[in-house]
Amino acid sequence: MRASDLAAVTSIERRITGSKRVSALRTHLAAMLRGRTGICLVADLDGVVGGFLVGDVAPWEFGEDRQVAWIKVVGVDPHHQGAGLGKRLGQAFLGELRRKGIRRAKTLVAWNSGDLVTYFQSLGFDRADAIVLERSV
Ligand SMILES: CC(C)(COP(=O)(O)OP(=O)(O)OC[C@H]1O[C@@H](n2cnc3c(N)ncnc32)[C@H](O)[C@@H]1OP(=O)(O)O)[C@@H](O)C(=O)NCCC(=O)NCCS
Repeated sequence: MRASDLAAVTSIERRITGSKRVSALRTHLAAMLRGRTGICLVADLDGVVGGFLVGDVAPWEFGEDRQVAWIKVVGVDPHHQGAGLGKRLGQAFLGELRRKGIRRAKTLVAWNSGDLVTYFQSLGFDRADAIVLERSV
């Protein structure tokens, strides 16, 4: 992903979510690209961005004593969904982790997003042995 991809990435995000408000995603991605942190990928369809996947690497994590990669967001242009782009983005991300010597990848999925669960299962993800707890502060 390059800074010049950000408009296309946020346009895909807006089309997926149906939201018209300015997303926080663009600001965060711009900072990640400037700082060269994380792993930010786009699917390039002859110069047009067809989808994106963004991940982070945590130096340590609950229950882990080694680096763990988190997939923070994935999105494929609704016009191009179901054609294998999401799978290729996920596989490219996992390939990048292997190259970096990172041995574990995680993500969070809303409990009612069955489509995302199926997508991540197709990439070899399985339910983790932990639950998320939260409260408002
Ligand atoms: C989930 C998503 C990334 C999948 O990308 P895609 O390019 O459409 O998926 P692919 O064609 O590569 O399919 C990969 C696998 O996921 C499965 N899959 C994809 N979409 C699915 C759906 N809606 N329901 C069930 N399974 C699905 C496919 O069956 C396939 O499995 P297989 O390899 O065993 O055949 C894409 O549909 C998407 O962007 N969804 C919205 C995600 C979202 O809400 N992001 C947050 C806001 S940006």
